[in-house]
Amino acid sequence: MKKVTKAVFPVAGMGSRFLPATKASPKEMMPIVDKPLIQYAVEEAVASGITDMVFITGRNKRAIEDHFDKAYEVESELAMRGKNELLAVIQNIIPKHVNCIYIRQTEPLGLGHAVLCAQPVVQDEPFAVILADELLDAEPPAIAQMAAIFEREQASVLGVQSVPRAQTGSYGIVKLAHEGGLDRVVGIVEKPSPKDAPSTLAVIGRYILTPRIFHHLANINPGAGGEIQLTDGIARLMLEERIFAHTIEGTRYDCGSKFGYLQATVGFGVKHPEAGEDFRAWLKAFGSAS
Ligand code: G1P
Repeated sequence: MKKVTKAVFPVAGMGSRFLPATKASPKEMMPIVDKPLIQYAVEEAVASGITDMVFITGRNKRAIEDHFDKAYEVESELAMRGKNELLAVIQNIIPKHVNCIYIRQTEPLGLGHAVLCAQPVVQDEPFAVILADELLDAEPPAIAQMAAIFEREQASVLGVQSVPRAQTGSYGIVKLAHEGGLDRVVGIVEKPSPKDAPSTLAVIGRYILTPRIFHHLANINPGAGGEIQLTDGIARLMLEERIFAHTIEGTRYDCGSKFGYLQATVGFGVKHPEAGEDFRAWLKAFGSAS
């Protein structure tokens, strides 16, 4: 019986929707209150039992490596000033038992190609894929919810949630069939127009895949947008192996859009242990004044 111990984080994308903020720093480093998006994604993986974090990076992404590395200057400065709580916060971003591995995707050939870049590290193991711009506030964490199904079924699992029909063109959309209390994926298509979408269930940036996916990613042609699409690889895998969908229980923020990013800031802001109380009071007053 295999367990999921590796997660792949495709972080090579340009982040053009957030320019100029992303001109010189990665979109995955944009903070929600006081933590960058990529840290939320890694914390979700750690809380789901993942021990190897594989980042598929690109040019201008050095800040991500630095974020998960030691920061000698900041650490000694905080130690000198006796700021021990903050020191612990930055020293414990990555627990000791967790490894970070970085692979460069040298050309922007698509999400499927990014995942294929992880093959030398993942090899013959099942693995998770986490897209950091989909921020999921869930307990148990989204990947843990899906890993439970993987461990029982030893089959790939896609994290899905319902979206308005008008938005199907932004997502991979699945077609499901009920099977023994589970939802089996019987179709998947990348970014269909609302009239062509087989349902309104969107893949929301969480995947657990068997290593057989690499075979398909290596052999498919470019799809939507001229890119090697993970969705197209999954469509091929589905013809050989069972794939299940799990509707993630939790709140989703699509931080790939400005609206979703603002919602996440409010959602996490009102819950923040230090700033939450003041922020809630301010929001209330702001709401009644405007
Ligand atoms: C990617 C995937 C898509 C998925 C989406 C989730 O699209 O290709 O299937 O539904 O992430 O956010 P992107 O947002 O990179 O265009």
